[in-house]
Amino acid sequence: MSYDDAELVRRDPLIEKILIGSDELQKRVTQLGIEISRDYGDSLPILVNILKGGYMFLADLTRAMSIHHEIDFMAISSYNGGTESTGVVKIEKDLKSVITGRDVLIVEDIIDTGLTLSHLLELLGTRNPRSLRICALLDKTSRRIKDVPVDYRGFEIPDEFVIGYGLDYDEKYRNLPFIGVLRP
Ligand code: IMP
Ligand code: MG
Repeated sequence: MSYDDAELVRRDPLIEKILIGSDELQKRVTQLGIEISRDYGDSLPILVNILKGGYMFLADLTRAMSIHHEIDFMAISSYNGGTESTGVVKIEKDLKSVITGRDVLIVEDIIDTGLTLSHLLELLGTRNPRSLRICALLDKTSRRIKDVPVDYRGFEIPDEFVIGYGLDYDEKYRNLPFIGVLRP
């Protein structure tokens, strides 16, 4: 844990603890970027980022990549917008890119029940990409309802509601450079 992380926690009594400090986070994201670069080589993959939670992860991941690639964004939401997934997802913003015949890598902040991603995989699959894989920074494996193949996983985490590094609670805390847990 760096001094900055600790300082941020001290300043906000609602943050209970740091789960993954910013140094550890950066190290792992860099590894993922290297691994993805090695695997995709010169195939010019499209990284599909799921807004809003995935924005910070994408920014750091792409900076750790040494190959050419494109990025695009999608926004999807659970119909109730709460903290529990329903599996009923709505496309708020679709891709600009045509992904037919392309290597597509979905870049997600977190997989919880897996319902959101399995719906998305199905949807993007109908557009006939050459390949369709998943890169998720965080994985709450124990919460899985729908099995999804995770090709690149940053960290497996316990069943706790996490914030920071793009992840929000009521639209706040996305700016934190670490993954933290809120006080219940
Ligand atoms: P799933 O459909 O249950 O896998 O839901 C995944 C989505 O729920 C993520 O993309 C997040 O937007 C949200 N989510 C799940 N767990 C958390 C959490 O601990 N903190 C913040 N958002 C979460
Ligand atoms: Mg998300």
